[in-house]
Amino acid sequence: MKRVAQVITLLFFINFALVHGATNTKHYIVYMGKHSLPNSEFVTTANCYLLASVTGSLHGAQKVALHHYTKSFRGFSAMLTPQQAQQLAEKDAVVSVFESRMNPVHTTRSWDFLDIDSINQYNQLPMNLKSDVVIGVIDSGVWPESESFNDNGLGPVPEKFKGECVPGDNFTLTNCNRKIIGARFYLKAFEAENGPLESSNSIFFRSPRDSDGHGTHTASTIAGHMIGNVSLFGMARGIARGGAPNARLAIYKACWFNLCSDADILSAMDDAINDGVDILSLSLGPVPPEPSYFENAISVGAFHAFQEGILISASAGNSAFPKTATNVAPWILTVAASSVDRQFNTNIYLGNSKILKGFSLNPLQMGTFYGLIAGSAAAAPGVPAANASICKNNTLDPTLVKGKIVVCTLEEVTDDRRQKAIFVRQGGGVGMILIDPFAKDVGFQFVIPGTLIGQEQAHELQAYMTMEKNPVARIYPTQTVLKTKPAPQVAVFSSRGPNIITPDIIKPDVTGPGLNILAAWSPVATEVTGERSVSYNIISGTSMSCPHVSAVAAIIKSYRPSWSPAAIMSAIMTTATVLDNNNQLIGRDPNGTEATPFDYGSGHINPLAAINPGLIYDFDSHDIINFLCSTGASPAQLKNLTGEIIHCQNPPTSSHNFNYPSIGVSNMNGSLSIYRIVTYFGEGPTVYVAQINHPTGVNVSVTPAKLKFTTTGEKMSFRIDFIPFEKTDGSFVFGDLTWSNGIHRVRSPLALNVLSQ
Ligand SMILES: *[C@@H]1O[C@H](CO)[C@@H](O)[C@H](O)[C@H]1NC(C)=O
Ligand SMILES: *[C@@H]1O[C@H](CO)[C@@H](O)[C@H](O)[C@H]1NC(C)=O
Ligand SMILES: *[C@@H]1O[C@H](CO)[C@@H](O)[C@H](O)[C@H]1NC(C)=O
Ligand SMILES: *[C@@H]1O[C@H](CO)[C@@H](O)[C@H](O)[C@H]1NC(C)=O
Ligand SMILES: *[C@@H]1O[C@H](CO)[C@@H](O)[C@H](O)[C@H]1NC(C)=O
Ligand SMILES: *[C@@H]1O[C@H](CO)[C@@H](O)[C@H](O)[C@H]1NC(C)=O
Ligand SMILES: *[C@@H]1O[C@H](CO)[C@@H](O)[C@H](O)[C@H]1NC(C)=O
Ligand SMILES: *[C@@H]1O[C@H](CO)[C@@H](O)[C@H](O)[C@H]1NC(C)=O
Repeated sequence: MKRVAQVITLLFFINFALVHGATNTKHYIVYMGKHSLPNSEFVTTANCYLLASVTGSLHGAQKVALHHYTKSFRGFSAMLTPQQAQQLAEKDAVVSVFESRMNPVHTTRSWDFLDIDSINQYNQLPMNLKSDVVIGVIDSGVWPESESFNDNGLGPVPEKFKGECVPGDNFTLTNCNRKIIGARFYLKAFEAENGPLESSNSIFFRSPRDSDGHGTHTASTIAGHMIGNVSLFGMARGIARGGAPNARLAIYKACWFNLCSDADILSAMDDAINDGVDILSLSLGPVPPEPSYFENAISVGAFHAFQEGILISASAGNSAFPKTATNVAPWILTVAASSVDRQFNTNIYLGNSKILKGFSLNPLQMGTFYGLIAGSAAAAPGVPAANASICKNNTLDPTLVKGKIVVCTLEEVTDDRRQKAIFVRQGGGVGMILIDPFAKDVGFQFVIPGTLIGQEQAHELQAYMTMEKNPVARIYPTQTVLKTKPAPQVAVFSSRGPNIITPDIIKPDVTGPGLNILAAWSPVATEVTGERSVSYNIISGTSMSCPHVSAVAAIIKSYRPSWSPAAIMSAIMTTATVLDNNNQLIGRDPNGTEATPFDYGSGHINPLAAINPGLIYDFDSHDIINFLCSTGASPAQLKNLTGEIIHCQNPPTSSHNFNYPSIGVSNMNGSLSIYRIVTYFGEGPTVYVAQINHPTGVNVSVTPAKLKFTTTGEKMSFRIDFIPFEKTDGSFVFGDLTWSNGIHRVRSPLALNVLSQ
């Protein structure tokens, strides 16, 4: 008995040490670059010996090691003291040692408004594409029983795929099929950094099964099977389908409760690259500001993936402000979010027969009129009116709000809106009207009938409540309104450039639908659904736009299996549009101000055109290294990225000649000439002619102004001369260069900051 007790104590102690850092340890990633060891066991053993040299024993090494990266690159992660981390960093075999950080998923916890099948361009795509394309989704797992993942009509699992279906809680081998061809999960780093999953008080599965909904939503947006007549309680009713319904999914669950640890993500990438995925989709990213490419697990892992021919499509983030875009490395396709032509109106009928237009996702019927009361007029004893107006916990007086519709206001834009309805319900309230300046971009689901109104409607409501002694209202169930204009508009929350790491690379790269997207959901995830269990849900974020772009990449890959990741990026970027459905330049919410390339990069994705882009701007990992050399990266930094010793060309080629499909110059001192190379993809001879939209204050010319191609695969270079005649002093001016042969238009945005003439 005594022995057993000791063992338990020991285990407890280890857990305690790991979780609470009792010995002053943190979770570090030790990255060692490429390796030539024969197999994973060799790598693990070698890692343990290396680790033992700082922990003092092999046993100690095994205890602190969490992940071993053994396939696509070498490394491990472990709980270490800063001293141990430093000692490891000094070892010859070690490239870099960095602390593992948390990356939030990029769903705004409820900005909502549209669905994928309302985008006509998807419906026009050929459906019967033979598709052996595999998309790896690093997210919160999958709900495999969803109809969206049935594998009807799909052939056997592609032979090249080496992934596995890893069983666990409520997940068995039978949960994989010819749609979900692989499923793995990673939680060592999460638990080491946040404590055991059990301490979360939320439902979870130690398996690829999704309890958050997010991963099910993104995976089904990419490659969900066509499912007719789905909706969220009748809202957004229609066909739900992934953008590439014949593609295959490999699920890598590295996110728990909407957080994903660097070290778990890196482990997922190590596996995914080795498993043979074609595309990697990441709807998550670092909290801005993004660390330099040489110190960021996602950038490093993505670089390896790029080298192996895998395109990484990642969300830009939901941080709204300039310079907050994340996942901005030039080897990642960075995705912003925009609306589609659809709104969800939840209107309010006032006792005086006036109708106020509101927005939310409200499936609930309100049988009759109810009394209206402002939160500020319903303060609990001792609570200032200003506090009660925000409808926070314990601020409302139940005797006043019982049976009433309560009118609440926001304290901050980031307020948890869903919680306010919970507090209103706690006091016995039957409905909530929230005054919210971003009402239109916010399609929340509440536990009671609820809706959001803008400032103008708020004035009308307040006037009525002042005039009328016993004001009453009724909140109606949501009506889905289609073909709204203008659309798309860049979402109010979508993170913006310029790129804070390499400002010459315009980021984000493109925008796609990310507002109110209907897709499959985990029925146990009810936090954002007004406590209602649903199998399809409507949510918003760059998390939702990224999988749309991943799907387009998958479609291109199935047409053009030999294309490099850069070629696919180029196809998506150069065919993107900057016009909305009014034929005006795309605006940005909330007030429709003209958007710029720092909002949407090259524009809004146009999948049909992207399959046949005409010309391609290609580049490979050597070009990326050259670019980094010319932007001043040191050999030590480059080694951090590639794991190899890199000698830069001396002098390096100008960073401005990096063959990126968009063109940015963040510090222009007088005239500048830059070069690009395009590759022709088409049949027979053709002539492309350059067209320029001049940025304000800069003359631009292209030489030669015509490119004559005869055969597909032909490459031609051209020069762009910029002659500035006005300083812009820190603010960028925008224009574009478009090559056109009358059929294809190959467009690159220009973003220039002129420091001197
Ligand atoms: C998961 O499995 C357990 C044990 O078999 C079962 O009790 C539980 O209902 C399952 N949960 C779900 C959500 O299926
Ligand atoms: C769609 O489903 C709803 C109920 O879920 C049903 O009332 C309706 O008739 C269905 N529509 C079609 C076109 O099948
Ligand atoms: C390499 O990465 C490590 C870990 O992030 C960082 O501390 C170090 O400064 C980097 N080295 C260079 C030269 O950037
Ligand atoms: C009222 O709100 C202020 C500011 O948020 C806060 O400091 C104060 O504690 C609140 N008072 C009560 C009684 O809730
Ligand atoms: C609201 O306050 C009560 C105690 O007054 C507390 O038990 C509850 O957890 C709070 N709810 C939230 C969501 O903060
Ligand atoms: C548009 O909204 C932005 C952000 O709220 C604000 O800074 C800007 O002044 C507004 N522009 C117009 C024309 O209303
Ligand atoms: C322009 O001048 C600034 C300041 O001297 C310098 O940092 C920058 O590299 C120059 N830009 C180019 C394109 O040469
Ligand atoms: C810019 O172009 C205009 C029109 O071709 C020309 O008149 C002007 O001289 C040019 N400016 C410079 C600085 O080259």
